[in-house]
Amino acid sequence: MRLFSLDNRLSLCASFVRKGSSLADIGTDHAYLPIWLVKNGIIEKALACDINEGPLNAGKADVESYCLCDKITLRLSDGLKEVKENEADDIVIAGMGGELIARIIDDCKWAKNKDKLFILQPMTKCEILVNYLYENGFEIIKQEACESFGKHYTVMAVRYTGEVRRITPEFPYIGKLDVSDLASRHYIEHVISHLEKRSLGDKTLLTVIEKIKGEF
Ligand SMILES: C[S@@+](CC[C@H](N)C(=O)[O-])C[C@H]1O[C@@H](n2cnc3c(N)ncnc32)[C@H](O)[C@@H]1O
Repeated sequence: MRLFSLDNRLSLCASFVRKGSSLADIGTDHAYLPIWLVKNGIIEKALACDINEGPLNAGKADVESYCLCDKITLRLSDGLKEVKENEADDIVIAGMGGELIARIIDDCKWAKNKDKLFILQPMTKCEILVNYLYENGFEIIKQEACESFGKHYTVMAVRYTGEVRRITPEFPYIGKLDVSDLASRHYIEHVISHLEKRSLGDKTLLTVIEKIKGEF
């Protein structure tokens, strides 16, 4: 069966996964990401987890179609609750709100392990996620942005360091994006316009907007 292509958002998530790692894809839905990574020889095995039976059954059908039942395990799990520490090196949590991603990491008893790499793609409330990470000893190692079907997304690779670092007021919104990269600039412009709308009801955001603009 011919392999599908990932869209730019999932492609960016895939590009952050370490070659040869064991992957846990949390909120896998159709299991597209693990299927694509295994089929392209980037990883050998993966756990594809979802809290809902419906998406998990869709994922199961896809995994069977690509004859990957021996390499991809589908598992019903709220976040990482049913994933053991030795089952995953790289953990992708994509396509969910920033608050939910923070809650999933907070609920995971083994998340504070310096060897694990979290690849996070918040759809909303990125600032809540980044504040949570930095208050709890995690650090963004790498961050990029992309555009997919006219929408702007960011993906970050995060590791636990144990050091609680102070961050600037604008950091939760733009993190470690490289402003010389065009996709990152477009993402930041999108963040600014979103904050400008919010600032009508919350004037404290005006200072954050000025600081973000100062980064350009
Ligand atoms: C919008 S889809 C994203 C699918 C895929 N990760 C992506 O980025 O394209 C969100 C998925 O997360 C699942 N989900 C929501 N809350 C979850 C949780 N607490 N634990 C695991 N999966 C969850 C939903 O059932 C759904 O399949």
